[in-house]
Amino acid sequence: MSFPSRRLRRLRTSEKMRELVQQTTLSSKDFICPVFVQEDLKTRVKIESMSEIERLPLDDINDEVGTITDLGIPAIMLFGIPTKKDEVGSSAFNDNGIVQKTISQIRQNFGDKIVIMADVCLCQFTSTGHCGIVQGDKIDNDTSLDTLAKIAVSQAKAGVDTVSPSAMMDGQVATIRKALDDNGFTDVSIMSHSAKHRSNFYAPFRDAAECAPKFGDRKTYQVPYTNAREAMLEVETDINEGVDIVMIKPALSYLDLIAEARRRFNIPVAAYSVSGEYALVKAASQLGYVNEKDITEEILYSIKRAGADMIVTYFAKSASKFLQES
Ligand code: PBG
Repeated sequence: MSFPSRRLRRLRTSEKMRELVQQTTLSSKDFICPVFVQEDLKTRVKIESMSEIERLPLDDINDEVGTITDLGIPAIMLFGIPTKKDEVGSSAFNDNGIVQKTISQIRQNFGDKIVIMADVCLCQFTSTGHCGIVQGDKIDNDTSLDTLAKIAVSQAKAGVDTVSPSAMMDGQVATIRKALDDNGFTDVSIMSHSAKHRSNFYAPFRDAAECAPKFGDRKTYQVPYTNAREAMLEVETDINEGVDIVMIKPALSYLDLIAEARRRFNIPVAAYSVSGEYALVKAASQLGYVNEKDITEEILYSIKRAGADMIVTYFAKSASKFLQES
């Protein structure tokens, strides 16, 4: 017998053969598209550090969601930028707040043609830029929980499908679940930013959403990127508190955690490919060092291959376009 007997190249001989044995698939149905909406804005504003991503006025939301649904993307993730910030983030749970208005407008115009997800956090809404309420020089966990619950309920009243707490306060899932249920919103689901790491990859987002902390950093609440077991415990805790979808964030430097969460838990796992991951690809592509389409495809496939069931990505629209064409 000639050597080698196993020739793996046999299944790589033609495009069709490669298609036949392709294990991981990627389509627009895997994506959740982030949308930034800013109160009192008249025209779209480009985000300097995130090429092709914009903050939208409420008036442009129908067009934007129309484009997203036409591309076959099933869900959006809403982030609001309010005009007024204060210490307790009151614009975040105002029934007439920018996020609430956006949710009800989309619900009215699109019915159930799109899954409306909304970020539940305080940093865009507090004068401190922190994800919880500051007392003294600390971010107070339990006062923050009450506020997060109020935000979730006000978004539910507006018609949100899924609330997505990203504040990393302990007990946020249990508190929000109870508040939703007590107010009759038993069908509103929770996708928690379960293992949200203290990451340097969020820098461009802070530019996009005006939410950089005014003092200190987020190390007392976000997960250290050195601790994989702690990340799994965050995921497990959210599951015990009744979460519907867990998330690992960021994605690309955290593929090991996506894979581990997928193996360990029988619950949908989302990955959030964050602003810094997007900005790196955009910058290198614009310099001509990499091919944007090819590298985006490879990154998104790798996140799927690691085990993510869905990906929150700023490439949602552009990738859906090239996936349709190929
Ligand atoms: C804040 C929030 C952040 C992101 C999503 N929600 C930033 C932060 O924690 O500082 C980052 C998302 C991204 O970088 O794309 N609640």
